[in-house]
Amino acid sequence: MPETEKPLFGHPWIFIRGVPSLNFLPPEGPSEVAFAGRSNVGKSSLINALVGQKGLARTSNTPGRTQELNYFVPDGYSGEGSDLPPMAIVDMPGYGYAQAPKEQVDKWTKLVFDYLRGRATLKRVYVLIDSRHGIKKNDEEVLTLLDKAAVSYQLVLTKTDKIKAPAVPKLLADTADKIRKRPAAYPVVLSTSSEKGDGLDDLRQAIAETIGIAHWQ
Ligand code: GTP
Ligand code: MG
Repeated sequence: MPETEKPLFGHPWIFIRGVPSLNFLPPEGPSEVAFAGRSNVGKSSLINALVGQKGLARTSNTPGRTQELNYFVPDGYSGEGSDLPPMAIVDMPGYGYAQAPKEQVDKWTKLVFDYLRGRATLKRVYVLIDSRHGIKKNDEEVLTLLDKAAVSYQLVLTKTDKIKAPAVPKLLADTADKIRKRPAAYPVVLSTSSEKGDGLDDLRQAIAETIGIAHWQ
């Protein structure tokens, strides 16, 4: 179990690489967690909120902002022997964005699916679900792919500031119930608001434990 001297999110993170196709992936090394979800669900915003750096991952009102697998690592991480947490966070292009040219959508979808299926150092995928919309058909397809590939994943509701606070517990319970029979799903669903900061510490802790660090701070 890697124990590091520095906290997971208590220092700057940097962008190291955008991966347009699988042959540009960095060599498999430190553990990775990836953020997946429909276009515009709030993947890039959530990464920025977790690390506390607004402009780290590019966000946009227009779906389809993120078009490559974007790799972020703790600034200064220099491989084995570094006292920084050995991990990368991967921001993924969204799926299910109908307005983009079909060719482009097919390219992203293939990239996302190929990466999710075949990356040995990928420890867990956080599949983000917009709390206003719930699990959609294309989310189900991704969950089925992850189940088939035996890639561990956890669902994270986003944008909870957009729904009424008392509705959140029931939505969490209903969502957990929907994935109860899925073999690769972590049974606990998380809820977050990047805007308000809600749920971020729980997600930080979940990520730390996933990569074998006891505490995120
Ligand atoms: P793609 O890269 O296109 O797949 O999108 P994405 O999933 O990375 O979404 P992004 O983070 O770019 O956010 C999309 C939009 O949702 C932006 O306008 C964000 O400001 C907004 N947004 C993200 N998180 C939240 C949140 O917690 N609350 C609210 N109200 N808006 C949010
Ligand atoms: Mg994005």
